Amino acid sequence: MKPLTLGIVGATGVVGQTALDVLGDGVLSFPVKEVRAFASAASVGKRLSWGSKSISVEATELEALAQCDAVLFASEAEISNRFIPELVARGILCVDKSSAFREDATVPLVVPEVNGALLSPAKLKSRPLVANPNCCTTPLVMVLDVIRKNFGLKRVIVSTYQSVSGAGKPGLEVLEEESRQFFMEQDLSVKPSRTFPKSIAFNVMPFVAKILPNGDTDEEQKIIFETRKILDMPDLPVEATSVRVPTFVGHAESVTVETERPVDVAALEKMIAAAKGMIAVANENPSAPAVQGNSADDSADAADVQFFPTPRESQGRDEVLVGRLRTAKVFANGVSLWLVSDNLRKGAALNALQVVEACASEGFFN
Ligand SMILES: NC(=O)c1ccc[n+]([C@@H]2O[C@H](COP(=O)([O-])OP(=O)(O)OC[C@H]3O[C@@H](n4cnc5c(N)ncnc54)[C@H](OP(=O)(O)O)[C@@H]3O)[C@@H](O)[C@H]2O)c1
Repeated sequence: MKPLTLGIVGATGVVGQTALDVLGDGVLSFPVKEVRAFASAASVGKRLSWGSKSISVEATELEALAQCDAVLFASEAEISNRFIPELVARGILCVDKSSAFREDATVPLVVPEVNGALLSPAKLKSRPLVANPNCCTTPLVMVLDVIRKNFGLKRVIVSTYQSVSGAGKPGLEVLEEESRQFFMEQDLSVKPSRTFPKSIAFNVMPFVAKILPNGDTDEEQKIIFETRKILDMPDLPVEATSVRVPTFVGHAESVTVETERPVDVAALEKMIAAAKGMIAVANENPSAPAVQGNSADDSADAADVQFFPTPRESQGRDEVLVGRLRTAKVFANGVSLWLVSDNLRKGAALNALQVVEACASEGFFN
């Protein structure tokens, strides 16, 4: 397989840095010749690490991007719109983490475990552009796909509990600043910050992004639209409520699904455990709990997550953790569950790199 030169636009941001971490972890099967980091003019010359290598941030310019085999866009939609059309016209694979192309019916929106079949070179050669979903949609469709295949899917109700890193580097900074301020000044007044419309420390907000005319937020609409597109079920009824919570990394979701057929919850747990990229966490409260109290090792083995998964346990992991599986009582047939996933890894950087990996193994770069 040809070793790739990979560009990362937005390399200094939380998703870009996570992409560098994932590449350094060596979990991907394609060979990398070189990683080139791109960001805004303010970051040019900054040093970033990728594995044991140190690389210098470059200005985001077309001719430099065009020297890459594949470019991961982890910046604003405006930057994706500015550079991707020309790069794609030159045959360079672009994987876009922004929302710029997700709604374009001609652009595949891909979670490899669910609809990776869209990544065949025959389909991509004429226009090598792949969009990546919102960080809540990705783990959601992975679970829904298993439910759909085994029990049929009729209706989905989801509430999210989204960490501040979903709002990028500034979100992390604001939670840290507000928390410090509370402990120093005991000030619990609610006020806007530069990132969120109200204080997020010691608070929760049923508001992510902006309110639309129909009363949903932009984030909720993304989850609804993207779920239907990835599952190829344009009429699937989906109700979403997106909530920002004061956690740093890891998004959680409470999901209730109406199914076509009765759900055998124990069988579903086994199916989730067997599915690629997911771990089923059993409901039993262990007699000697391994994860209660302060675990020093947040990246412990899957077996160490017991009883129910939490966002902090998802941090740094590649898998979606699924727990609290139980029969839904409001529908004749259905199931309720809780999931958590690292929004920066599977919710963003890892999924994008897995798209490159799938394209490489399908022979796109040969
Ligand atoms: N955070 C998540 O959980 C998540 C999940 C899924 C998708 N996404 C999407 O991924 C993208 C990146 O999000 P993030 O959370 O990583 O944001 P972030 O931490 O705020 O990082 C933004 C990145 O964009 C770069 N940038 C800003 N202006 C630029 C310009 N003019 N030219 C080139 N680069 C520029 C920044 O560079 P400087 O450091 O130089 O300013 C930084 O590297 C967004 O589209 C977001 O919607 C994020």
